[in-house]
Amino acid sequence: MYRLSQSKLIALVFSFMFLGLNAQDNPHGKDLKIDCNKCHNSGSWKITSENKLFNHSKETGFELEGQHQKLECKRCHQDLSFKGLGSQCVDCHTDVHQMSVGNDCKRCHNSENWFVKNIADIHSENGFLLEGAHVTVSCIDCHKSSNTLVWNRLTGQCISCHNSEYVNTQNPNHVQAGFGTNCIECHAPQSPAWKSDFFHYFFPLTQGHDGLTCVQCHQNKPYNQISSECISCHQADYNSASNPNHKQLGFPTDCTKCHTTQSGWAPAKYDDHDADFFPIYSGNHKGAWNKCTDCHTNSSNFALFSCVDCHEHNDQADLADEHDDVKGYIFQSKACFECHPKGSE
Ligand code: HEC
Ligand code: HEC
Ligand code: HEC
Ligand code: HEC
Ligand code: HEC
Ligand code: HEC
Ligand code: HEC
Ligand code: HEC
Ligand code: HEC
Ligand code: HEC
Ligand code: HEC
Ligand code: HEC
Ligand code: HEC
Repeated sequence: MYRLSQSKLIALVFSFMFLGLNAQDNPHGKDLKIDCNKCHNSGSWKITSENKLFNHSKETGFELEGQHQKLECKRCHQDLSFKGLGSQCVDCHTDVHQMSVGNDCKRCHNSENWFVKNIADIHSENGFLLEGAHVTVSCIDCHKSSNTLVWNRLTGQCISCHNSEYVNTQNPNHVQAGFGTNCIECHAPQSPAWKSDFFHYFFPLTQGHDGLTCVQCHQNKPYNQISSECISCHQADYNSASNPNHKQLGFPTDCTKCHTTQSGWAPAKYDDHDADFFPIYSGNHKGAWNKCTDCHTNSSNFALFSCVDCHEHNDQADLADEHDDVKGYIFQSKACFECHPKGSE
């Protein structure tokens, strides 16, 4: 049994007296638990928009905001019980999009008006950024439909809208070259056209390879018939390299063992030297030499090397002193290396 608080009871009785009515005149049914005078405060039952006491947003589960605030109660409440109304937008408004974007109207709308300002966000939330060339494309060119408010699902796959461009490419002919149909492998989506900003990820064009024309490397072959091995394009450079003479010295033909794409092929850095032969980028000899030929004094045979050219500066006699008690010491580079294979004690 519902019990009125004292203040509510006084208010109720007072309002009935004021209006000259009794309880049987309540047309809202006994379930309405709000004071009469929260809504009725004059000599008339008419509810005016000046009514400030009844706060719909606070006293019911439905916030009246935007355009809804200006509406008469009965635009929504067909009967005075105030019951039975759904509070989802779609309960009262026709889904003009015919279920193409779902029931959750609030994702895109509020109760001020139906305009949608977050078109860009809507697209990025779907994993398709309206950027680059697509910024200026009109909705209907992508959302082909007889009704501009119905958005049939698209895929964001470039090929689904750009198949004819793909098939008709001439320079290069994508079909012949066997290019994939995932355009963003090679075309940046933010690019304004198919040509510029081409991203050569499969073989970074850095340093000595920067600013070359495509044809310098690709010649007149199909784009996919090209090797990324340095030697395939730089055999002549290898053959003619004289300082040091690569061919004569039998340097490996994997240029990356010593070179980057740095212009002029210098400085070279033979990282494997430390582990394979003798530490020169680490240990005692790090920074102790300038040219390979400081050790490899015979520039046409790197199998030979000298240790004594440097170490006799410390005085040959001193060195002999150091080796006083070392059995088998001789002043000869090959011997030095045999006892000091890492250049340390
Ligand atoms: C939440 C607000 C609210 C409360 C609380 C409320 N009313 Fe009403 N009442 C209305 C509205 C809205 C109307 C319809 C007014 C209109 O048509 O302009 C109305 C209309 C009426 C009418 C006129 C009925 C008709 O057919 O024209 C009576 C009588 C009335 N109310 C009595 C009461 C009584 C008695 C109470 C307290 C028990 C009460 N009301 C509480 C909102 C309220
Ligand atoms: C835009 C539509 C709309 C308008 C206009 C509107 N209401 Fe409501 N009202 C609702 C909805 C929706 C609910 C139901 C909320 C719920 O159940 O969660 C509701 C609930 C109520 C309830 C609570 C009913 C209950 O017992 O749960 C009362 C009372 C009420 N409204 C009174 C009014 C009065 C008085 C006015 C005019 C001043 C008014 N409403 C204007 C939509 C509206
Ligand atoms: C209980 C019913 C009800 C609910 C729920 C409701 N509305 Fe309304 N709304 C109305 C009524 C009635 C109008 C007055 C105009 C009309 O009849 O279409 C209106 C008007 C509007 C308007 C003003 C533009 C116009 O068509 O005149 C907008 C915008 C709007 N509603 C958006 C929303 C959104 C967004 C939601 C959900 C967050 C929502 N409404 C929920 C009943 C409702
Ligand atoms: C994914 C976003 C999205 C969702 C969800 C959405 N709408 Fe829309 N709606 C739009 C866009 C975009 C427009 C066009 C707005 C413009 O022209 O500024 C629009 C326009 C409208 C219009 C105005 C139509 C006209 O003739 O101008 C109404 C009414 C509307 N929507 C109702 C709804 C209702 C009801 C729901 C929920 C069932 C809903 N919308 C859900 C995006 C959405
Ligand atoms: C370049 C093509 C393109 C253009 C231009 C474009 N869209 Fe889209 N739109 C898409 C793709 C792709 C999706 C995401 C796939 C899907 O949800 O169907 C999408 C999704 C949407 C959705 C559904 C979002 C959701 O969450 O349900 C709406 C609504 C929409 N676009 C409205 C528009 C409107 C309005 C315009 C013009 C202002 C527009 N689009 C311009 C391609 C485009
Ligand atoms: C839903 C359809 C749709 C999807 C998906 C789509 N586009 Fe588009 N795109 C268009 C339309 C429509 C145009 C404008 C008309 C035209 O030039 O083809 C356009 C234009 C372009 C242009 C400019 C063409 C020019 O010649 O100026 C580029 C570049 C482009 N899109 C790249 C892409 C890439 C990359 C993807 C994949 C990430 C993609 N598009 C996905 C519809 C789409
Ligand atoms: C393997 C890399 C690769 C892929 C994948 C790729 N392209 Fe290209 N595309 C290129 C290159 C390289 C060019 C020439 C760029 C230049 O000249 O700056 C080009 C140019 C184009 C051109 C302009 C040239 C012409 O003859 O019209 C169009 C249009 C084009 N691509 C469309 C596409 C479409 C559509 C896709 C996806 C379905 C795609 N491409 C996928 C590499 C690719
Ligand atoms: C410095 C030499 C060099 C230059 C300059 C160069 N490329 Fe390449 N390109 C390569 C190499 C090497 C590969 C092969 C990479 C691999 O297979 O690992 C390659 C691969 C490609 C492929 C991929 C073919 C496939 O599907 O396998 C395309 C497309 C391409 N290049 C286009 C271009 C275009 C367009 C330009 C001019 C803007 C260009 N390249 C400039 C060396 C170059
Ligand atoms: C074992 C290490 C090593 C390998 C492997 C190597 N180089 Fe070199 N290269 C060098 C050194 C050391 C220099 C001298 C650079 C310096 O002064 O820093 C050099 C210099 C060059 C020069 C300039 C020589 C001159 O006479 O001006 C060219 C050209 C060159 N290398 C091409 C190549 C090519 C092409 C390959 C692969 C096919 C290759 N190199 C592989 C170590 C190597
Ligand atoms: C598809 C052919 C191609 C491949 C593969 C290639 N290059 Fe090149 N490279 C060129 C062309 C063309 C030039 C510019 C003309 C020239 O200097 O020979 C060049 C220039 C260079 C230069 C600048 C030469 C200078 O004189 O300044 C260096 C260094 C270089 N490449 C190193 C390399 C290395 C290291 C590799 C292997 C990782 C490599 N290249 C693979 C074609 C290629
Ligand atoms: C501090 C002395 C030193 C310097 C500097 C040095 N090397 Fe060596 N290098 C050696 C020694 C010692 C060996 C012999 C190791 C062996 O016989 O096992 C060797 C062996 C080699 C070999 C193998 C020769 C063969 O035919 O067996 C090559 C190639 C080589 N070095 C290249 C270079 C290059 C290129 C540089 C300059 C970037 C360089 N070295 C700088 C000490 C040096
Ligand atoms: C380009 C000159 C140079 C050449 C060639 C050279 N060294 Fe050294 N070596 C040095 C310098 C400089 C040091 C560091 C001197 C110091 O710390 O006292 C050093 C240090 C050493 C040490 C360590 C001394 C200590 O205090 O631990 C040994 C051992 C050594 N070298 C052996 C060799 C051997 C073996 C060779 C020949 C394969 C060689 N060096 C070739 C310049 C050279
Ligand atoms: C038979 C082995 C052997 C030979 C050959 C040899 N060394 Fe040593 N070397 C040693 C030993 C062992 C020590 C440590 C001696 C000690 O601490 O008393 C040493 C010490 C050193 C030192 C460090 C001295 C110091 O300041 O503490 C240097 C530098 C050095 N040798 C360089 C050389 C050079 C250069 C050659 C070739 C001319 C050479 N060694 C030949 C075994 C040898």
